[in-house]
Amino acid sequence: MYRTKNCGELRKKHEGQEVKLAGWVHSIRIGGKFGFMDLRDRYGITQIFFKEKFTEQLKDIKRESVVSVSGKVKAKPKANPKLQTGEVELTAEELKILSPAEPLPMELDESIESTEETRLSYRYLDLRKPRMQKNLILRHKTAFAVREFLNKEGFIEIETPLLAKSTPEGARDYLVPSRVNKGKFYALPQSPQIFKQLLMIAGYDKYFQIVKCLRDEDLRADRQPEFTQIDIEMSFIEQDDILSMCERLVKHVFKKVLNIELEIPFQRMTYKEAMEKHNSDKPDLRKEGDKFKFLWVVDFPMFEYSEEDDRYKAMHHPFTMPNTIDFSEMDKVLSKGYDLVLNGWEVGGGSLRIFNTEMQEKVFSALGLSEEEAKSKFGFLMEAMKYGNPPLGGIAFGFDRLVALMAGETSIREVIAFPKNKDAEDLMTKAPSDVSKEQLDELGLKLK
Ligand code: AMO
Repeated sequence: MYRTKNCGELRKKHEGQEVKLAGWVHSIRIGGKFGFMDLRDRYGITQIFFKEKFTEQLKDIKRESVVSVSGKVKAKPKANPKLQTGEVELTAEELKILSPAEPLPMELDESIESTEETRLSYRYLDLRKPRMQKNLILRHKTAFAVREFLNKEGFIEIETPLLAKSTPEGARDYLVPSRVNKGKFYALPQSPQIFKQLLMIAGYDKYFQIVKCLRDEDLRADRQPEFTQIDIEMSFIEQDDILSMCERLVKHVFKKVLNIELEIPFQRMTYKEAMEKHNSDKPDLRKEGDKFKFLWVVDFPMFEYSEEDDRYKAMHHPFTMPNTIDFSEMDKVLSKGYDLVLNGWEVGGGSLRIFNTEMQEKVFSALGLSEEEAKSKFGFLMEAMKYGNPPLGGIAFGFDRLVALMAGETSIREVIAFPKNKDAEDLMTKAPSDVSKEQLDELGLKLK
């Protein structure tokens, strides 16, 4: 057995017990005849007291080595209030080095800043820091609370494919070449949008998934090429049903994870008002001192004109339900789309969807898609719509963004275990990387 207790567990009540701890050497002090070690794991730090016979062994141990220590728990005459375990220390009887550490390439002391390059190159060391541990634990608790709430409300989590076809969120796709079907490519999903609509057609009226999405776009503090959504879809609902379900979900999560009581319903504002009053579709409405200010932005325009492409694009995506059948003035058509904004960040977006083929065809044609293009891109969805499509709608929360704001961080990289840098590189594994000529040949590809 490597340990009988963890490093955050011992208290006065354990006095006199023989225990074994294992962890990382946080610090060592050898003074005169005695030695002290702070031993750390993710639960805390315990002070170990070593008698003189250990002095030589202690001299050889470097910080961050992994060791195990057995001994007897002793109450300290004066507790150390800085440690949870500060009432006691362990008097060592046996010390074993399980894995010696070389001098570290980065400082783990949080008062000393490392460059982002160093932090991401040695992410496994960076993740030893209390701040990162706190963030990852908060992320776990948030995901758990989300699942707890949605499960209670009758939602079921269903996985959808990663090797898929291009989806309509409008960013650039990550493509995966097919070996078996040479010259053809899968697109990694920008979201499970089409699959969740198909699940509604299949009758799974309350779906969710905590899911990775992939978009090849320029990165910012709130954007990663692979990020996580809490993806939700429901049948037989109106806009108010979904907004109120989301409010209850967020309220549950904030109570469970942060013990914060949010007031619902959240404020609502039309897109027009947001733009006119705040010149932003995600205004930060915090006054000095609510900490968390949620806002629904509703009644988005259905279309937006793209100068670059010289055509109209869907502001949310082309399956969003317009609020009129009259498209004679494209700029005036509003949609049943909504965004959830928290402190000036878009933390969620969704809409009611089109559920009949005529309207869907009308939107595709307004977007300049020929019948053939629409058929080749989304033919399977158009066909599915003919076989009984319930009224439906949904939303996707940006999970990383929500967790970052809950953690008080300004970049989503701080709540992702292994994020990419701003050039979409993984500095630790060095992805993306070259591939061999044999691999390219197998895929029928030649580099330009
Ligand atoms: P949308 O494209 O608005 O909607 O995405 C939903 C939410 O995902 C988050 N998000 C991101 N987070 C981190 N990095 C990124 N690159 C990134 N891109 C988006 C945002 C955003 O609000 N299928 C629709 C949802 C629906 O209609 O149900 C969709 O994906 O917080």
